Amino acid sequence: MHHVESRATLGGKLSAVLVAAGSSVGLGNIWRFPYVAGDNGGGAFLLIYILCVLLLGLPVMVAEFTVGRASKRNAVGAYRALNPRWSALGYNSVIAAFLILGFYFVVSGWTAEYMVHSVTGSLAKLSSPEEYGSVFQNFISNPWRPVLYTALFVLLTHFVIALGVQKGIERSSKLLMPLLFVILIALAIHAMTMPGSGEGLKFFFKPDFSKVTASTFLVALGQAFFSLSIGLGTMVTYASYFKPDTNLRHTALNVTILDTMVAILAGVVIFPAVFSAGIEPSSGPSLVFITLPGIFNTMPLSMVWSAVFFLLLVIAALTSTISLHEVITAYLHEEWHMSRRAAAWATTVATMALGAVASLSLGVLGGWKICGLNIFDSLDYVTANILLPVGGFFTSIFVGWRLDKRILKEQITNNGTLKFRIYKLYIFLLRYVCPIILLLIFLDNLGVF
Ligand code: PFF
Repeated sequence: MHHVESRATLGGKLSAVLVAAGSSVGLGNIWRFPYVAGDNGGGAFLLIYILCVLLLGLPVMVAEFTVGRASKRNAVGAYRALNPRWSALGYNSVIAAFLILGFYFVVSGWTAEYMVHSVTGSLAKLSSPEEYGSVFQNFISNPWRPVLYTALFVLLTHFVIALGVQKGIERSSKLLMPLLFVILIALAIHAMTMPGSGEGLKFFFKPDFSKVTASTFLVALGQAFFSLSIGLGTMVTYASYFKPDTNLRHTALNVTILDTMVAILAGVVIFPAVFSAGIEPSSGPSLVFITLPGIFNTMPLSMVWSAVFFLLLVIAALTSTISLHEVITAYLHEEWHMSRRAAAWATTVATMALGAVASLSLGVLGGWKICGLNIFDSLDYVTANILLPVGGFFTSIFVGWRLDKRILKEQITNNGTLKFRIYKLYIFLLRYVCPIILLLIFLDNLGVF
């Protein structure tokens, strides 16, 4: 096994939390969570989601941190260094990161375009909900504009990655994450003061179990893994840059809390607005791009609210695309012995190509289908519902059963300097609870029960 010398490390405790939270907090929280919750029973979904985060997400995140910091390598090199027979798990990570970027860059591009249109005032010119709907449909199916914005977003991500781990990733997270929280809190306060906001909050928080079916659990699990950025080696890669005294459990807990808070606050921003405008809450992925701009338009200072909201999305997306890009860049750099620069460019060019195809699959390439889904939807489906939970399943098996327990203890207790009172519970969750629940959900999805 080859050793990677002079690897970058992140600064203090806060850096580890902000960098990992930068990855976790993304479009998944603001764009995806509200509509998934809306489609699946609001508050009931929220409860199931929180259970998934605590019982499955948190232990798997700590497991990924362990693998990353113990090996100090990219996702493939990390599993290979700890146990060569498990390197496939690393490949699952790199492939999943690539496929996610394929659709994630496209949606990120939309957020950038909508931010520009908010600032120029062209969004504010529209009036009826139909107009907002047709502008969005025309935009995403346009053959070149969304491709251009996707490419711009890829280049923005490339720029940060090219600056390196400390100057690029760490510095951007330290600047952008606090900004994101400030914007989100301001928007939430504004949303709660709108007339009729109580209805929206009630819908979001009041459990409606009649909408809960077996598939709700799969959806909640997929959402939790996607939102926390686990199951695909992002956290392995980031933890490989953590310092030896970073407390892995506290970092994971803080990241999980921040991520869940942002998802909940996004619901608090969106649902009161939706209800105050008297719109059906479960209006799918377009909630953010059709419904909300229409609602912003009815408010005083509409251009400002709309621009600030889309800026929030751009920031959330950017810190996440950076982390996905880094998974592939670090892999190419360390395993293929490319210079970091060449590795970053290779990742940029490949993801740009996939992003362009995914974007066009919503328009001119709409006829290209995989199992009845266009390319864009199949990338989303395959990663969130298959690759991430499969990655999580094998990560918990690997760390729970295969990894030398001395390594696990060393990492979690920082060589015995930290106490770990719930070690037994942790091992129990990793060995039994995580894999069994993940497996049951899968079998159910395949129609076995
Ligand atoms: N967690 C990000 C979000 O919620 O938008 C998406 C994501 C980033 C998923 C990085 C996976 C990942 F490795």
